Amino acid sequence: MTENTRILLRRQCEGLPEVEDFEVSSGPMPEPADGQLLCETIYVSLDPYLRGKISGRHMSGNILPGELMVSEAISRVVQSNHPDYAAGDIISGFTGWQEYSAIDADTVRRIDPSLAPLSTFLGILGMPGLTAYAGLLRLGEPKAGDTVLVSAASGAVGSLVGQIAKIKGCRTVGIAGAPEKCAWVTDVAGFDDVVSYRNTDLRAELDRACPDGVDVYFDNVGGDMLQAVMERLALGARVVLCGLMAQYNEDGMPPGPNPAWTIKARATVRGMVVYDHEDLRAKMVEDVSGWLADGKVHYLEDRAEGLAEAPAAFTRLMRGQNVGKAVVVVGSE
Ligand SMILES: NC(=O)c1ccc[n+]([C@@H]2O[C@H](COP(=O)([O-])OP(=O)(O)OC[C@H]3O[C@@H](n4cnc5c(N)ncnc54)[C@H](OP(=O)(O)O)[C@@H]3O)[C@@H](O)[C@H]2O)c1
Repeated sequence: MTENTRILLRRQCEGLPEVEDFEVSSGPMPEPADGQLLCETIYVSLDPYLRGKISGRHMSGNILPGELMVSEAISRVVQSNHPDYAAGDIISGFTGWQEYSAIDADTVRRIDPSLAPLSTFLGILGMPGLTAYAGLLRLGEPKAGDTVLVSAASGAVGSLVGQIAKIKGCRTVGIAGAPEKCAWVTDVAGFDDVVSYRNTDLRAELDRACPDGVDVYFDNVGGDMLQAVMERLALGARVVLCGLMAQYNEDGMPPGPNPAWTIKARATVRGMVVYDHEDLRAKMVEDVSGWLADGKVHYLEDRAEGLAEAPAAFTRLMRGQNVGKAVVVVGSE
């Protein structure tokens, strides 16, 4: 334990991120101050919002060239300078793309490893899980029998939205890209139907899968996909605007869907920000870990092995080439 490998942002990304936008750096082991924990990283989370931080337009703050890539990670406490934690505890915190970190104990969350596999606390039991749970149940207000449609349906957020909707008695339809993602969405995650937007007429496919229109649309993509769904809203529909995969790599803001569709369906459109729903986290972990144990919920992970692979894995995520929650395996459990 003499050196700490870290991944820094080397330069601003232009459009799609490239591996060369990042650099590996080696530094001394961090020294934990009073109230801090020295942590050894096990899993690093890769999430689309990091692209917004690099562009300087995410509400959680920026990452500037030369700075450590900061994201959430699951770590083991190696040394504790705080009375509430001991060596061996498992925590999640914003420790970033590095092997070791020193972090204030009052900014981390304790993980119960007996509940579920550790990496799920970055996916369906973590921030993406809370996004799906709160976004669907609190903002989407699904009712039994509703047709619930969700884009990026094989990802951590989208897959859980569909599976919770199914548990609540809804008819669930996912939108996904590659054939293996589409197959997983119906065959493993148990969605009633899936719409592929690759090499197909998206609007015709939506008409086929949602013949009575869409009661709840959970939108992870924006762009023309959002426009196409808005044209098919059922009366009184709820639209949860959650993500903008179609535009994170763009400089400007494209024009949005015409408000005529919202008016025609008397729809409610709500913006989702996960930070507003922290009060639901404990209930989410209780419910989702229970459904996971009962086999009612499944998840997919896209694992990269080794910290040095984090940049390549991130470039794949921002191209939509990840198959499931993107995590980097940094250390052993
Ligand atoms: N509002 C909030 O508080 C909040 C919190 C967490 C996450 N989010 C958002 O939720 C969404 C899903 O997040 P996640 O972590 O679960 O990611 P994810 O679904 O694992 O990965 C993103 C997926 O988006 C799809 N996609 C569709 N169009 C794309 C395009 N033009 N470029 C790239 N990918 C495209 C791809 O799947 P297909 O190939 O199957 O389409 C890709 O795999 C993201 O938009 C994220 O920003 C929002």
